[in-house]
Amino acid sequence: MLILGIESTCDETAAAIVEDGKTILSNVVFSQADMHAAYGGVIPELACRRHLDAIIPVIQKACEEASIPLEAIDRIAVAKGPGLIGALLIGINAAKSLAYTLHKPLIPINHIEAHLYAAMMQQEKLNFPLLGLIVSGGHTSLLLVEGIGKYSLIGQTIDDAIGEAFDKVAKMLSLPYPGGPEVEKLARTGNPLAFPFKGGNVKGREFDFSFSGLKTAVLYGIRGQNERGGAPLTEQLKCDIAASFQRAAFDDLINKCQKALDKYACRGIVFGGGVANSQTLRKRMVESFSTTPLYWPPAQLSLDNAAMIAALAYHKDPEDLYELTASTRIAWGS
Ligand code: KG4
Ligand code: ZN
Repeated sequence: MLILGIESTCDETAAAIVEDGKTILSNVVFSQADMHAAYGGVIPELACRRHLDAIIPVIQKACEEASIPLEAIDRIAVAKGPGLIGALLIGINAAKSLAYTLHKPLIPINHIEAHLYAAMMQQEKLNFPLLGLIVSGGHTSLLLVEGIGKYSLIGQTIDDAIGEAFDKVAKMLSLPYPGGPEVEKLARTGNPLAFPFKGGNVKGREFDFSFSGLKTAVLYGIRGQNERGGAPLTEQLKCDIAASFQRAAFDDLINKCQKALDKYACRGIVFGGGVANSQTLRKRMVESFSTTPLYWPPAQLSLDNAAMIAALAYHKDPEDLYELTASTRIAWGS
């Protein structure tokens, strides 16, 4: 089965063709990051306009690269959320128009579930249950994964998502957007123990996350309103702050994954979302969970892309074209 996937949740316009939920025939991603970099974050109205310009050429390119004409596609899949409402509507309306004119079934896909599936789609065999960790620009969630499409949410952030915290810390350190890779780079020459930063805990909800306190601690560290006592911010201190922030954020993920593995009998951890692209996170997870199978998305599927949308759609049923709307929030549950 050939599925065309369309993705426009945030600042990437993407289209891909995937065969039988596994084989990627094309995976076209048009990133708007350069445009948003000037503002230090995504400007929704600008993102929408770019999606509008890019969506048709990106779909055409996905067909060309796969050498598959639109008529030969069996189904059309589209990310229905969560994401920026205007951005979502552009992908959804393109998908609806194609489904309507080509008489093809339309499958709405949860973007976050697709991030998790990106790490699972090319595995020969998966031993469920798995622990799922979503670490993206908009979400930080822990899930019990009992099969594809069978999830229970066990924890999530009550404020910033981890990727958002990386982006905001980058901005405070005058680094460009998207900030995660920049912080990771700066942290390489920093001392991760220079600042005693730590991630937040939520009373009575052991698997929830909170990164706003960590972000504020970083701000005070930059301003010198802490044990530095107002000393000037040197280049080395910037590296130390980046390294200490990154260490604290990842310590928190590791601690909560460990607790979840202790409580639930999971046979591995599956990772999804842009922060899973961090080589530092991967290294730390491998060190911390040396006997647990860890499933990571391949490089071309780590950041937002449409191949994960088209691939997951293979396991889902089509929905009524006229009922499909964008959703900025998603509900988990099997
Ligand atoms: O999943 P994604 O592409 O988009 C959303 O669905 O949000 O994630 C983007 C996020 C951004 O916040 C970006 O800074 C972060 O992933 N990110 C990283 C790294 N690469 C991307 N964060 C930390 N370290 C990285 N190497
Ligand atoms: Zn994403």
